[in-house]
Amino acid sequence: MYKNSILDIIGETPLISLTLDSKALANVYGKLELQNPYGMKDRVAKNIILKAKEDGLLLDGAPIIESSSGTMALGLALVGTYLGHEVHIVTDPRIDSLTKRKLKALGANLHVVNEMEKIGGWQKARLIYLNKLLERMPNAFWPQQYENINNPNAYNALADEAVEKIGKIDYLVGSVGSGGSLCGTAKALKKRNPNIKVVGVDAIGSSIFLQNDNPKRLQSGLGNSIQPKNVDHSLIDYVHWLNDEEAFNWTRELASQEKIFAGNSSGSVYAVSRWLSRNINVDLNILCIFPDRGDRYFETIYDDDFYNKFSLSKNHLNLNPKKENKIEVFNNWTFVNLKKVKTLETV
Ligand SMILES: Cc1ncc(COP(=O)(O)O)c(C=O)c1O
Repeated sequence: MYKNSILDIIGETPLISLTLDSKALANVYGKLELQNPYGMKDRVAKNIILKAKEDGLLLDGAPIIESSSGTMALGLALVGTYLGHEVHIVTDPRIDSLTKRKLKALGANLHVVNEMEKIGGWQKARLIYLNKLLERMPNAFWPQQYENINNPNAYNALADEAVEKIGKIDYLVGSVGSGGSLCGTAKALKKRNPNIKVVGVDAIGSSIFLQNDNPKRLQSGLGNSIQPKNVDHSLIDYVHWLNDEEAFNWTRELASQEKIFAGNSSGSVYAVSRWLSRNINVDLNILCIFPDRGDRYFETIYDDDFYNKFSLSKNHLNLNPKKENKIEVFNNWTFVNLKKVKTLETV
């Protein structure tokens, strides 16, 4: 049976049991969100745009404007232009050339800011530019993925799809950027199993969970320089942070061990899931989410020259994260129990 449109193949992504290693006790199931037409955020773009149309926030033919340089931009370009809207993406020079070309091919308008703000960096510069565009196009719709509830709500379907195939899910492992995928999926899964443990994966140098922001971090996708509203701390039990070298090496391991060619957020999620599979009981079920494919990282994570340029070692796969009781500046893979950690506000 064929589908009527490309939008109908968003979601219902494959779920596979991972091979892991000989020390694994628990089962790990990988949800291949990277098999969406462009990536995980296709779900978010579809949900946000359709809801905005339903609610009268996005009128027929009105433009859509968003600041993004990755999967959200692609999702909006896919869904927005398909439904007849002009899509304007505000980005900065760090955007990779593959994503840039894909966006143009889909018919999106790219606005690349060329100077960062002294305070607030590229994010701030993009926001200033976006606001100017909104002034110029007063009927435009701005999806605001960091606070729009239809971002996390887009993952109700992911939770349903996983429960239907796995049954009881004991642990959820997912990366955190806007918080939509982890918190949306967690909220939906908690209705089925209130005892589920939720594990967030972040980048060292990201300030989502109140570490110091390091704008020079090399990981993309996960992590943030702000604390988005869609990160609901009450839903998260543990947070793991990996540094760039660890994230990239585990991304390569995901390709070589599991044959999944993915981006670095998937690599970090894989590392945490591999570790967890050794450290919880036999036969418990772990669901983990793999957001995007590896193609746009072919000149970085998958290129040896990149490791030399940034003095990163290769084949460095440790499975010994350090447990801490308070959040401070970490240099290597570390995790905390968020329910027990010293109050975030006082850090
Ligand atoms: C590749 C990739 N991984 C992970 C994430 C984090 O997902 P979320 O925004 O749902 O927290 C993003 C977000 O843009 C992403 O693009």
